Amino acid sequence: MLLLAMTELPQEIIRIKRDGGALSQAQIEQFVTGVVSGEFRDYQSSALLMAIVLKGMTPEETAWLTEAMMRSGRVVELPEISRPKVDKHSTGGVGDKVSLILAPLAAAVGLCVPMMSGRGLGHTGGTLDKLEAIPGFSVYLDDAAYRQQLSAIHQAMIGQSADMVPADRKLYALRDVTSTVESVPLICASILSKKLAEGIDALVLDVKCGQGAFMKTEVEARELAESLVRISSTMGKPTTALITRMDAPLGATVGNALEVEEAIDCLKGQGPADLMAVTIALVAEMLCLGGLCENTAEATQRIQAALDDGSALAGFRELVTAQGGDASVVDDYSLMPQAAHTHDILFAADSAAYVQSIDALKVGEAARLLGAGRSHAEAEIDLAVGLRFLKKPGDAVAPGEALCRIYYNQPASLAAAQERMAHAFSYSPQPIQIPDPVIDRIATQ
Ligand code: URA
Repeated sequence: MLLLAMTELPQEIIRIKRDGGALSQAQIEQFVTGVVSGEFRDYQSSALLMAIVLKGMTPEETAWLTEAMMRSGRVVELPEISRPKVDKHSTGGVGDKVSLILAPLAAAVGLCVPMMSGRGLGHTGGTLDKLEAIPGFSVYLDDAAYRQQLSAIHQAMIGQSADMVPADRKLYALRDVTSTVESVPLICASILSKKLAEGIDALVLDVKCGQGAFMKTEVEARELAESLVRISSTMGKPTTALITRMDAPLGATVGNALEVEEAIDCLKGQGPADLMAVTIALVAEMLCLGGLCENTAEATQRIQAALDDGSALAGFRELVTAQGGDASVVDDYSLMPQAAHTHDILFAADSAAYVQSIDALKVGEAARLLGAGRSHAEAEIDLAVGLRFLKKPGDAVAPGEALCRIYYNQPASLAAAQERMAHAFSYSPQPIQIPDPVIDRIATQ
């Protein structure tokens, strides 16, 4: 009886949002519990999601939604870990292998990184797929093994278990098929509910902006970054966001095994400038939020030292070994899946020029057509295939020089990728200035 008095009909809750009203915390909790229990039918949840897309949510409603989603399943607590527990989330981009470098680097400078990721639908696989290019690497650890690993080596990179944030799994699947993904409050609640269920003390966000990103313009990226920082901070987790460029692919490779190889190069001190700049900037934010450094200059020095003295690379070996992988990949990249064929795209012009841009979206599509990414959740991916950029924006290129190498297994996929890549590069006759990959930093006021 009491329960009946306290709950409302789903259609009442939908109506309030449809008419532009604000939902109460109780109504939002009823929605989220109803999604998981089935009390809210898929058609009712979809209607409410669409109303949220159209009418928005206040910061308060978004925080309540995040909290309710986070509490829809198991919330990890890690009281036994004494180091600051700080994680990073990226909104995703083409060639974004930052997590693979960042976790061992952050562990080497004194943080604990309890990173849980998804596989996601993307142009290439997610972090978990990339790690699976390492022979033997397991992304599934039980709770005891996960905690033991965090205590021992201060980092873990695993898939979120099925008992965590079930509301997001259900809602994301509905959003995907009802055109209700593009909503700042829904994106915020989805991202933060998953990250805050990890038991972290603080969070750094990499909000990508540009052709190859979810957020195409700076205005959109800033809106999302500000909202993520506001909600996460309101929920008691110090958070900063960096808005970073995603017009061209990040780094020199796109594709799962190729990206692991490049991440290891970065830990050896041989990484491309854009990828290193973004990674170091994010780890510096983590160090400051974790209270281990006063400012980013001090943090950057500490990070550089961990790269120079080999401790970050040693941390990567420890991570791979701890999760069952073969750490000799660090010295021998051929232990990872290798594509059967390669094909170079050449600069077909009469006179020398400078690469002005590489369209990340076209590159992403080419990578997916090669088989590096999924077009639907159950699709198999080919860990070996992808692209390597031999020229990046700002580089000079002479007629006949190779711009990019395509790694492929299926001849038909080469033709499709070549077609996407045909107009991916643009050129300038003059030298060009490459902008800083970090556009802005958003912190709590
Ligand atoms: N990534 C997420 O995890 N959720 C969203 O809603 C969008 C991107």
